[in-house]
Amino acid sequence: MYGMVNKAVEDMVCMHHGERAWEQIKTKAGVDVEVFMSNEGYPDEITYRLVAAACDVLELPADTVLEGFGEHWVLHTAQEGYGGLMQAAGKSLPEFLKNLPNFHSRVSMIYPKLEPPRFQCSDITAESLSLHYHTHRPGLTSFVIGLLHGLGKMFKVPVKVLLAESKAKGADHDVFNVQWTASRKP
Ligand code: HEM
Repeated sequence: MYGMVNKAVEDMVCMHHGERAWEQIKTKAGVDVEVFMSNEGYPDEITYRLVAAACDVLELPADTVLEGFGEHWVLHTAQEGYGGLMQAAGKSLPEFLKNLPNFHSRVSMIYPKLEPPRFQCSDITAESLSLHYHTHRPGLTSFVIGLLHGLGKMFKVPVKVLLAESKAKGADHDVFNVQWTASRKP
């Protein structure tokens, strides 16, 4: 994955737990990289090792770390670093979600070797939809749940996310049922 992902993990840990915790996490993960370069590729394994070490050092379950990382990604990494891309993708949560299937193709213009996940929407109503998440990477379900909660906070809309179908439990791919409150016209 591009270095910006590992940098974002570093940023989240330093923001909430301080630089000492980050140094401990890197040592525990056996990662000897001083500075991650945003636009360079790193093996996925490095990101997985950093997340596993963060769980150990911070004494938190993986789901909690990954959900926190998803929220941090939207509210800090994406909004602060790629505000234009985020704004162009929608003025409301449902609009943003419906544009999600095309979102990473715009990111690929900046990062041409991107191996992004694939999203699809179905069962769309005024206050809910099913979000289908396809990826070759294992174990990132809670990251997506955190991303969706982050988007809810970004649009200041209460959001409920339920895992309706789980790849870890044998389904073809993860399906999230996402529910929000439609804004009422005054
Ligand atoms: C401007 C904002 C964003 C940027 C720059 C961005 C960029 C990236 C990058 C660089 C990766 C690593 C993949 C690779 O390097 O090959 C990634 C992965 C991922 N992105 Fe985004 N992304 C953004 C927003 C989002 C949003 C809004 C969502 C969903 C709500 C999302 C969902 C994911 C997921 C789930 C992965 C994990 C990889 C996988 O599932 O295979 N991203 N993204």
